[in-house]
Amino acid sequence: MALTAYDYATARLLDATGSVDLLLVGDSLAMTVLGHRDTLSVTMDEMAHHVKAVTRGAQRAVVVADMPFLSYGVDLAEGVRHAGRFIQECRAQAVKVEGASSPVVALIERLVSLGVPVVGHLGFTPQFIHALGGPRAQGRSVEAASRLREDAMRLQAAGAFALVLEMTPPPVARWIAARLTIPVIGIGSGAGCDGQILVIDDLLGRFPDFHPRFARQYAPLGEMTQDAARRFAADVAGGDFPDEQVEAYPLTSQEAADLAALLAAE
Ligand code: KIV
Repeated sequence: MALTAYDYATARLLDATGSVDLLLVGDSLAMTVLGHRDTLSVTMDEMAHHVKAVTRGAQRAVVVADMPFLSYGVDLAEGVRHAGRFIQECRAQAVKVEGASSPVVALIERLVSLGVPVVGHLGFTPQFIHALGGPRAQGRSVEAASRLREDAMRLQAAGAFALVLEMTPPPVARWIAARLTIPVIGIGSGAGCDGQILVIDDLLGRFPDFHPRFARQYAPLGEMTQDAARRFAADVAGGDFPDEQVEAYPLTSQEAADLAALLAAE
């Protein structure tokens, strides 16, 4: 099972469950953490900042760093250097790239030859949002499904060790997963994949902008956060916070006596 994580505390909590095999520092952080409308604006420096935090929090799970838009595919050497930064400086164990174009396939081959494990990502690929005309399910026609399966085979042949398959109708996803030997990790692609991944903010109900059809909310953290803030505000306004017996640092009797003497002398 896999989840996204973007910070140290979440990575520690998720890792300590022992149930999460893979933590993806997804470029979805552009939206969930940074408030952009899509994933396109997040930079290498911003990603690196969060990848470092997650790798500090994870002991057991494999941490995969998402290569941001245009950090790869433009120039092979630049893509290798950016992936290398995630591994060397940020201590991720693998990187993820979207698509199966020739430059991406060449990058996967080069990275794998250098010892950098790579996860592929097909189906709806958010970095292609404009080319795809929005967040739409992919592989719906026989031709599109066949192309998708060929792309998946190409990524596997290039050396990708796993494939994220997003928003692909379940029969097509099942057909692709059955053909591949590497694990297919589905997101919005039905139950026939080898594994599943969700964005942690969807799981916890704390992303307010939209709720993908395929995501299941397991905890209402958004509502709980607002409720906690309202209760705190009410306690402060009503003089119930802080409780000085518990939520403060008492003076010793000597310190209290010294202070009383000082006040009396004024
Ligand atoms: O960036 C991300 O969170 C992802 C998931 C949708 C798999 O790529």
